[in-house]
Amino acid sequence: MNRKMNVNKSEIYERCFKEITRKIEGLDINDKMNMICEILKEKIPYYFWIGFYFPKSGFLELGPSRGPPACVRIATTGVCGKAAKERRPVIVPDVKAFPGHIVCDPRSKSEIALPVFDSKGDIIAILDVDSEELGSFDETDQKWLEKILHCAFSDHERNSAIFDE
Ligand code: SME
Repeated sequence: MNRKMNVNKSEIYERCFKEITRKIEGLDINDKMNMICEILKEKIPYYFWIGFYFPKSGFLELGPSRGPPACVRIATTGVCGKAAKERRPVIVPDVKAFPGHIVCDPRSKSEIALPVFDSKGDIIAILDVDSEELGSFDETDQKWLEKILHCAFSDHERNSAIFDE
């Protein structure tokens, strides 16, 4: 368990999940993403940065986020790119040990990235979360973030105004 984390992760995520489902009802994709970032960044003590990256042709572009300024365009060679290419969550306990990791802020030490799927199973975005401590993310984070993303976006379809692929 993380130094800043003296309460049960699942309890915090459960509260966040309830708040998110209540507050995103009827919102569009961007507003939902903003609300998810807002609530999770505010409520989860080890979240240093959270944001969504949209897949473009050959790179990823920053969407809604909270935390210190991050890279606006990133290559698909890092953690987010791996989550997109392999269509699965990627947990990185130590970013220095991940070949290809893209440094946006040197304070980030561990990371989780998850694909966001739409109703057809296409990838809408990648959700990326960074922590200032090593080993912050585990299967509990993955399970709850997948649940939040599924609840928020699985009834949407990719919007061609946002995506240029
Ligand atoms: N570390 C990510 C880049 C995004 S930032 O962490 C905000 C990566 O390797 O894809």
